Amino acid sequence: MSSLFDLTGRTALITGSARGIGFSLARGLAQAGARVIINGTREETVAPAVATLKSEGFDILGRAFDVTNETDVAAAFKAWDDAEVAIDILINNAGIQFRKPLVELGLADWQRVIDTNLTSAFIVGKEAARRMIARGNGGKVINIGSLTSEGARPTVGAYTAAKGGIKMLTRAMSAEWGPFDIQANAIGPGYILTDMNKPLIDDARFDAWVKSSNPSQRWGKPDELAGTAVYLASAASSYVNGQIIFVDGGWLSVL
Ligand SMILES: NC(=O)c1ccc[n+]([C@@H]2O[C@H](COP(=O)([O-])OP(=O)(O)OC[C@H]3O[C@@H](n4cnc5c(N)ncnc54)[C@H](OP(=O)(O)O)[C@@H]3O)[C@@H](O)[C@H]2O)c1
Repeated sequence: MSSLFDLTGRTALITGSARGIGFSLARGLAQAGARVIINGTREETVAPAVATLKSEGFDILGRAFDVTNETDVAAAFKAWDDAEVAIDILINNAGIQFRKPLVELGLADWQRVIDTNLTSAFIVGKEAARRMIARGNGGKVINIGSLTSEGARPTVGAYTAAKGGIKMLTRAMSAEWGPFDIQANAIGPGYILTDMNKPLIDDARFDAWVKSSNPSQRWGKPDELAGTAVYLASAASSYVNGQIIFVDGGWLSVL
């Protein structure tokens, strides 16, 4: 059974994996046997994450680039081509949050949130998928959605539009890339304890609301997403395509 989930011999690129959820997914996939490429915005964030996972005995590479910059993304893939690093698994995880009511939100901030949370998955996804298709060995794309892939809350309109888009982009990827044995799926995390949520974790009313709104009655931990990521990255999910799996403590299942 364990061989179904074995990622030995696979290389995974996880965007935004210098910290938070992406870092936990990196450790999880490495524990399952994958070589993992860590990414973040800056070398100063990527290098320590690479060093930490290497010190735990894993096979780790790193590269800082901005996932919204098509030229930088293309340069990263070209460098991996030149080094004969073939990416079998892509997790589009990089994301940002920005809270402001829609009537006060400027176009530049709207665009920045859409670019980082949605357009990046298209930019990085097509570079990875082109190569997976050319190699002919199939592949895995995992996009990180959110509870806001399904429902909205005030002050996060651009993020909600982006994460709703992630759900449908995942389906578009499965429609186009499924014939090449590439499975594209998404994970929808609930409220997870990361830097992104620091202002919410520190807000006693919000903290109480989170704990009372999901059957698990607590925040999720980043490493609680790793099992679903390993499943979607492995042969165990070879006939699962275009789905979004919510890892939310049961949040979306209750009224
Ligand atoms: N936390 C939650 O409750 C939650 C819930 C649902 C969905 N999500 C989603 O899960 C993903 C990870 O969230 P998180 O909470 O782990 O966030 P986080 O702790 O703020 O970490 C975000 C990571 O993304 C990287 N990043 C941001 N913009 C980037 C860019 N333009 N190019 C490359 N890397 C970039 C950051 O790089 P640096 O380290 O260099 O800054 C960092 O490593 C996001 O897509 C988020 O929307 C989170």
